[in-house]
Amino acid sequence: MPRVSYVNGRFVPHGDALVHVEDRAYQFSDSVYELWGVMNGKLIDHELHLDRLERSLGELRIEAPMSRAALALLLKEMVRRNRIKNGAVYLQISRGVAPRDHAFPTELVAPAIVMTAKPIAPAYYAGKFKDGIKIITVPDIRWARRDIKSTSLLGNVLAIQAARDAGADDAWQVDGEGFITEGSRSNAWIVDKDGNLVTRRADNDILNGITRRVIIGLAEDEGRKIIERAFTVDEAQGAREAFQTSASAGVIPVVEIDGRPVANGSPGSVVTAVREIYLKNALTA
Ligand code: PDD
Repeated sequence: MPRVSYVNGRFVPHGDALVHVEDRAYQFSDSVYELWGVMNGKLIDHELHLDRLERSLGELRIEAPMSRAALALLLKEMVRRNRIKNGAVYLQISRGVAPRDHAFPTELVAPAIVMTAKPIAPAYYAGKFKDGIKIITVPDIRWARRDIKSTSLLGNVLAIQAARDAGADDAWQVDGEGFITEGSRSNAWIVDKDGNLVTRRADNDILNGITRRVIIGLAEDEGRKIIERAFTVDEAQGAREAFQTSASAGVIPVVEIDGRPVANGSPGSVVTAVREIYLKNALTA
């Protein structure tokens, strides 16, 4: 089934999905993005991702290229045209195409928008869940506005590549005081000895993950305590369980950190319960 992408007003075969060399996303990463997981043909947490997209655009003073309702329709159309049952839809909006100059264009420039979609076999993440993943920790070298979902992802790119080079699955980033900020493309969590979920408070240091937010709500409804605070690498290694969350992968157990197993080195009961409530909600909400 050939892939279809969307570029500035047109659905095009994926191979022809091209943007201009002076698109400010290409030259400056002057752009924001969102990524929706798709399960059973449904865009998961559709509205929450649109909310965050609007926030990211507002923080960078990039105009929305169209109304929220029009964007929502286009996203559904991407799922339909690509016949995605399970997978992800990517949306990126840049400040537009203008002669290269760091400052915002002074002429009125239309924002540029692209969307891509890809299928992901459910077995892929189910396998990661069953075995858990091994991570390393790396210094967080990114800019100070990680709350904005911008396409400035070089720090994240280097973090995951360091993990691959080390033979690990992923990397968690660590701030100057030794506290974990977040994963290369996920939020980081631990389970403390009392079974409470611990995850860093959402301020400018991390992306406030939609999966993170939804899980906080669901777990609280189930009577589980959530503690939003930073934790160190040491604490994570000694935790009862550790896991990470993101829209594309959902809930993934972390079973080894910097070569040290977390607890007995296999996914625990709390992460299993968290994944169940997350999936149940995604498929029924
Ligand atoms: N990444 N932190 C970072 C740095 C991320 O890139 C992501 C998501 C998250 C989790 O956010 P959410 O639950 O809203 O997906 C946290 C997406 C999946 C990506 O870049 O592919």
